Amino acid sequence: MLRKGWSIARCWGWLTLDSEVHKGPTEWFESRVGVGPWEGPWPSDAHFDPELLEQGDKRNVVDAYRYWTRDAIVADIDKRRHSLHIAIENFEHDANIGTVVRTANAFAVNTVHIVGKKRWNRRGAMVTDRYQHLMHHDTVDELIGWAREQGLTIVAIDNTPGSVPLETADLPVNCLLLFGQEGPGVTQAARDGALMTCSIAQFGSTRSINAGVAAGIAMHAWIRQHADLSQAW
Ligand SMILES: C[S@@+](CC[C@H](N)C(=O)[O-])C[C@H]1O[C@@H](n2cnc3c(N)ncnc32)[C@H](O)[C@@H]1O
Repeated sequence: MLRKGWSIARCWGWLTLDSEVHKGPTEWFESRVGVGPWEGPWPSDAHFDPELLEQGDKRNVVDAYRYWTRDAIVADIDKRRHSLHIAIENFEHDANIGTVVRTANAFAVNTVHIVGKKRWNRRGAMVTDRYQHLMHHDTVDELIGWAREQGLTIVAIDNTPGSVPLETADLPVNCLLLFGQEGPGVTQAARDGALMTCSIAQFGSTRSINAGVAAGIAMHAWIRQHADLSQAW
């Protein structure tokens, strides 16, 4: 219902103004579905993809990377990836991995580690896996050994008894956040190899939240503590 005296035109003007102010990084310069063919003389820099310049770029990438080749985008993110790694156990084909990969990409996470089954459902990743370093480990012990060699401290994320509240925990800078899967949660082997297990505070009736959502919350907790926010888009 419109307030008395408000015309539709007046409301529309206000809404447009409001949505202009709240535009996100991928909407600042172009439409949400990407850009058309490059207009004018083509740029000569090697990071531009001739096919995209010719046909337009409809990929879900930030505007700074419009028309760039995939390799050039990955190389650019590599210059400023965080010292944060993510691992998710995949012993029962967890459907959340795509979401985890997409969020990891958004936060310029160094590498996403898949532990257990090699295959995972890429649908939720929305093609972001192409720009994200991924590594597979057959077992949790293999992951733990690899993390130690790299000087990474493992923090398991689950709401198991004895866990430390994520909201007040100090997360290590060189950190590997390890998530469990729907049903069993983080395995005992993973918890044994971790410095601590952190839980996300809940207040409702459900035992746990979706692993993909939990991963987003935990990654952002690390970002709040360690990222240089002046580098964000
Ligand atoms: C759906 S949970 C299942 C396990 C859960 N411990 C249970 O008892 O139901 C799957 C994964 O999501 C993450 N997760 C879900 N809720 C969480 C919470 N409140 N705190 C920390 N991690 C959580 C953990 O990584 C967990 O292993």
